[in-house]
Amino acid sequence: MIKKIPIGELKSGMYVHDVNCSWRSMPVFTFRHRMSDEKIIEKIRQLGIREIYIDTSLGDDLPGAPTEDEVRMELEGQMVGLADGDEVAFHHRLASQSELDHAWDIHRSASQLIQGIMTDVRMGRQIEFDTVHEALHNINGSVLSSFGALMQLGQLKSADDYTFQHCVGVSALLTAFGKGLELNRQTIHDVGIGALLHDIGKMQIPSEILNKPGRLTEIEFDEMKQHVVYGRNLIGDASWVSSTALQVLEQHHERYDGTGYPKGLKSSEISPMGQMAAIVDVYDAITAERVYHKGMMPADALRKLQEWSHFHFNEDLVRHFIRSLGIYPLRTVVRLESGGIGIVIDQNPADLLRPTLLMVSDDEKRLPLSPYRLDLSKATADRIITYEPPEKYHIDVDRYLATV
Ligand SMILES: [Fe+2]
Repeated sequence: MIKKIPIGELKSGMYVHDVNCSWRSMPVFTFRHRMSDEKIIEKIRQLGIREIYIDTSLGDDLPGAPTEDEVRMELEGQMVGLADGDEVAFHHRLASQSELDHAWDIHRSASQLIQGIMTDVRMGRQIEFDTVHEALHNINGSVLSSFGALMQLGQLKSADDYTFQHCVGVSALLTAFGKGLELNRQTIHDVGIGALLHDIGKMQIPSEILNKPGRLTEIEFDEMKQHVVYGRNLIGDASWVSSTALQVLEQHHERYDGTGYPKGLKSSEISPMGQMAAIVDVYDAITAERVYHKGMMPADALRKLQEWSHFHFNEDLVRHFIRSLGIYPLRTVVRLESGGIGIVIDQNPADLLRPTLLMVSDDEKRLPLSPYRLDLSKATADRIITYEPPEKYHIDVDRYLATV
């Protein structure tokens, strides 16, 4: 059985299933195994991990600790509670193929611009103001014209060129997050610039560490963390990079409970922009497809953020972020009380628990021949019970959405 325990309860003889910290490349000793060395337990604690999952079938148990299913149910309850907020929620709808193609073109050209900037940096050249602005201008256009398309792109990114695409993804999400929080135009512009440059210091990390397919050694992990300091040094005294943009770059790995890096700042020591950047950076990283692991579904990623928000992030900002993407983001597969299975195709900002679905089954066992739309805001007799992994019902989401 998989159970969640506080890190202080981790003892020799327990089997670590998941260090519950998938937002970063963790050192090799956090890989799944049975704990037998107090020094390793202490090292895991020092990483800032607060809660951990153990497998009680392979190691010692902690009686009374919640099971993985209990944790999931509790989180689902918390997510449903977020629907009651009165902060801004967006109306995301499924993008048309042409909107998607357009957003994809923008994303690709912005990624190429960032790749050019980073290559220049690696060669020791200056960062070009005009190129960064051109990339941001493109991203802003796509955030304004079709946020739905942008969200869908998150899952279409290719596994190559991860670092460049990640910068563009974080910039787009942070721009949208800023709009949702009704920040002023200049601030939104500055956080967008900061996001595009936030990982620029990675260009000074040796590529065998940056692109290492396996887990990093402790020394490599420490070197990887230096990318924030390297990034700050690369910006130097460039006057076009505002203090707001610098906050994004310098603080995107700081954590609300002081467990982040490079400075170990906590709560209000981290600027609001740094706190927002941390949330978005993690969301984009865990949903991305990588060469060696599959990206998380947005619904899973938002629940992980909610779980981690109790320690590592500003809970209010996580609530805003989740509401801005929807409790059940576009393309999420959900199960209804009636047993029906549907795919979220249109958000309902007035009630995030009642989006419009493309129904693909009227019960859990049979898939219907012709999918149909169901607007849950009108079908008041039914409701979403939970979201489901598409594989569980052998649902090819893309194939169904092509029929809409
Ligand atoms: Fe980073």
